[in-house]
Amino acid sequence: MTGHNEDIANHIADYLKKNKQEVTLEQLVDTDAYDLPDYDAVVVATYTYHDGDLPDEAEDFYEDLKDVDLKRTKFAVVGSSSKSHIHYGRAVDYFTMQLNSSNGDQAADSVKVDQEADEDDFKRIDQMADYVIKSLQ
Ligand SMILES: Cc1cc2nc3c(=O)[nH]c(=O)nc-3n(C[C@H](O)[C@H](O)[C@H](O)COP(=O)(O)O)c2cc1C
Repeated sequence: MTGHNEDIANHIADYLKKNKQEVTLEQLVDTDAYDLPDYDAVVVATYTYHDGDLPDEAEDFYEDLKDVDLKRTKFAVVGSSSKSHIHYGRAVDYFTMQLNSSNGDQAADSVKVDQEADEDDFKRIDQMADYVIKSLQ
């Protein structure tokens, strides 16, 4: 909506590339959940909408995840949302639960960011990415 998660996703992609990882960056609405087992790791960045719901454009991806076996895939979840809402960052929690239910191996604690990521948030995000890299070694 306002580019907060796009900024985070671009930052993570750049950080991973700088650390010699091969990265595919896609919008959730264009991502086929059935392709995820082909990747060593997936990082989902999501906002939260409609009183603690997933973004509309993430729903097909989320539903398809229920049929996917991620036993060989590491994952991490991050999301910019807003502390001014009761269900702060609930979509991050939903994705974390679903990726675990799909047998994914959680490489790092999920990271919630209040609105636009600041310097401290990017430090937490880099740390999350470090754990993802470490999980692949
Ligand atoms: C109509 C509306 C509903 C929202 N509902 C929630 C919510 O329930 N929980 C939450 O944590 N944030 C909520 N947000 C905040 C957004 O998730 C937040 O602004 C986020 O940074 C937007 O990310 P984006 O710029 O990547 O789209 C809502 C925002 C709007 C405009």
